[in-house]
Amino acid sequence: MKNKIYIAPMMDWTDRHCRYFMRLLSPSAFLYTEMVTAAALTHGDSKKLLQFDPSEHPVALQIGGSDPKMMADAAQLGADEGYDEININVGCPSDRVQSGQFGACLMAQPELVAECVRAMNSVVDIPVTIKTRIGIDDLDNYDFLRRFIDANVDAGCNTFIVHARKAILAGLSPKENRTVPPLDYDRVYRLKADLPELTIILNGGLTTVDDCRLHLQHVDGVMIGRQAYHQPWFLTELEQAFGSGSAPPDRHDIVERMLPYVEREIAAGAALKHITRHMLGLFAGQPGARGWRRYLSENAHKVGGGIDVLETALAKLPQAA
Ligand SMILES: Cc1cc2nc3c(=O)[nH]c(=O)nc-3n(C[C@H](O)[C@H](O)[C@H](O)COP(=O)(O)O)c2cc1C
Repeated sequence: MKNKIYIAPMMDWTDRHCRYFMRLLSPSAFLYTEMVTAAALTHGDSKKLLQFDPSEHPVALQIGGSDPKMMADAAQLGADEGYDEININVGCPSDRVQSGQFGACLMAQPELVAECVRAMNSVVDIPVTIKTRIGIDDLDNYDFLRRFIDANVDAGCNTFIVHARKAILAGLSPKENRTVPPLDYDRVYRLKADLPELTIILNGGLTTVDDCRLHLQHVDGVMIGRQAYHQPWFLTELEQAFGSGSAPPDRHDIVERMLPYVEREIAAGAALKHITRHMLGLFAGQPGARGWRRYLSENAHKVGGGIDVLETALAKLPQAA
């Protein structure tokens, strides 16, 4: 079965610890790394940047950049490391990203992105995909989006993740750029209707299974960002509705299943707080949720903390949680 559920790349959030945890909640969602720049991969410690656990499959590496040669080298590193897909970031609006000539500003340069796609496709066998917005600034209409898509289809890209709001490149923070520009799902639907042979994944503002079900009548997949991070249990609902349909796990079991991972990672030098920070929302809406969150927040950063911190937090929860 083709994937329908995709979990968004989120800088600082969807690191490998987060993805390991998410995979326990959803055996089949397609996971994405945080954006890694092509420059960091080609000039930095790529082994460290690309590290992931085999259980994370299927997992895509998201790369930011616009130099075709460097993007191809970075894609090659990702493919060699075993990623299932390479995704190009054409959606991020931050100043830092614009000065590096990548992210959402590249929507205005479809040929340059297409050159990257060609260069990347010539060195890897896995899919090279694009995550984009529906427009930027005044370039905010279907024809503009279509020109961008067409150029990249010509270059061999056939999967597009579309965040259904434009990016405003000056004056808004990245955070505001995820809430202020209005969502326009119809523009994404139209893309799929006009180009049915493409795989179109819709992103932006999805918070319920019903939202996803509705959009899936028009597009091939849906990508969820903030809701999956803040309410990780949502992943199990999605899995039941659109994935394997398997019975949901128990929240306590999920914590138990994290323990060997936490032990292994701490032994390898990771800090407990860097893992548990992604687990704070696990009991959201359940009795004891606040105590769970507080205990982890107050104790996971202490020197020498290990799985005992998680075990104690778990023991403090009411039985029903
Ligand atoms: C903290 C945070 C970091 C993000 N980092 C990235 C990123 O590295 N690459 C990217 O393409 N989008 C990034 N995004 C945007 C998300 O992938 C997604 O497009 C956006 O949050 C809209 O989806 P949502 O409404 O389901 O959250 C980030 C979003 C958040 C909240």
